[in-house]
Amino acid sequence: MGFFVLSLLLLGILVLTEIRAGSHSLKYFYTAASQPGLAEPRFTAVVYVDDQQVLSFDSDSPSQRIETRTPWIEQEMSNYWELKTREATLRYRMCLQKVPVYYNHSEGGVHTYQRQAGCEVFSNGSFSRGFAQYGFDGRDYLTLDTGTLRWVAADAGALNNKRKWEADQRIAENWKIYLEGECVHSLQRYLENGKERLLRADPPSARVTRHTSSDGEVTLKCRAQDFYPAEISLVWLREGEEQLQDTEFIETRPAGDGTFQKWAAVEMLSGSEHKYTCRVQHEGLPEPLFLKWESQFSSIGLSAGVITILLLLAAVIIGVVVWRKNTSDSKRGSYTATASNDSAQGSDVSFTART
Ligand SMILES: *[C@@H]1O[C@H](CO)[C@@H](O)[C@H](O)[C@H]1NC(C)=O
Ligand SMILES: *[C@@H]1O[C@H](CO)[C@@H](O)[C@H](O)[C@H]1NC(C)=O
Repeated sequence: MGFFVLSLLLLGILVLTEIRAGSHSLKYFYTAASQPGLAEPRFTAVVYVDDQQVLSFDSDSPSQRIETRTPWIEQEMSNYWELKTREATLRYRMCLQKVPVYYNHSEGGVHTYQRQAGCEVFSNGSFSRGFAQYGFDGRDYLTLDTGTLRWVAADAGALNNKRKWEADQRIAENWKIYLEGECVHSLQRYLENGKERLLRADPPSARVTRHTSSDGEVTLKCRAQDFYPAEISLVWLREGEEQLQDTEFIETRPAGDGTFQKWAAVEMLSGSEHKYTCRVQHEGLPEPLFLKWESQFSSIGLSAGVITILLLLAAVIIGVVVWRKNTSDSKRGSYTATASNDSAQGSDVSFTART
């Protein structure tokens, strides 16, 4: 995952998920960025459990404190996190001075230094994998190979840093100990405390909509929403064949209320809509959903409903017309009655005024 994507993630626009259903993850994202004209870089930290942001810190915030993003993490809020963040703030500000030197950059430039690290566990809670990755100026920098405990350098600048870190093998070893130990224990605790929210599975509600472009192309869009966790599969089938090549997807995106949304669209010639079926698979669904485009009058239920409404409408219109006719007849009748006592002229005047 590139650091460009990571930056989006930090802005809360996009949450990427590599998690398989049933497994869980704890991820930390740290960013230090120099601010033009300011002596102190800005430091931000975001912590995710699965798809859920649980903690955040921003050195630019007035409170200068860690913010909890879910009620259940409150119990976990301790000096541990305050201490960790304060340490990280200092460390990352220092790195922001050191790393540009590896690239021969002159002093006083504007740079960013990022780190993402975390661990994943299987659904039974045991360690599945850990990762630690650094970025500099929006690009990959150093990545820990957790198998060999070596650092993978992305370019010549990072190579200088790699040599330094590999001179002291304890740096990589401590990462391994942390990722397989403390990280997993924290995650297990969070999963226990937040199980009502984290271990739930809200199934998607899904529907198919049809769109026509100006050149006559028809697009069927399969939309899923209100689901949790984010992991979902939307596949368009044409007469049973998966249409992966011709399908346009959007990234699964958070709705803002803790649930997720996604759509998949497929283009076709008008008239072949009936050949396409959207398959929706999600942890919250006992079986996959299969959806087709339902044109408005093809469905018996819908057309029966429409007929009922039309009949009702007709009845109301007839009722109103009859009623108005009756009232106007009776009014005219009474007027005519009085008019006849006066003159025919009067009746004509009033009739003209009425129409
Ligand atoms: C947990 O699940 C993983 C993968 O399914 C398996 O390899 C591992 O042995 C399990 N661990 C325990 C303690 O059951
Ligand atoms: C920095 O400058 C030194 C000396 O000129 C050079 O050997 C080195 O390759 C440069 N490093 C980078 C990352 O460009």
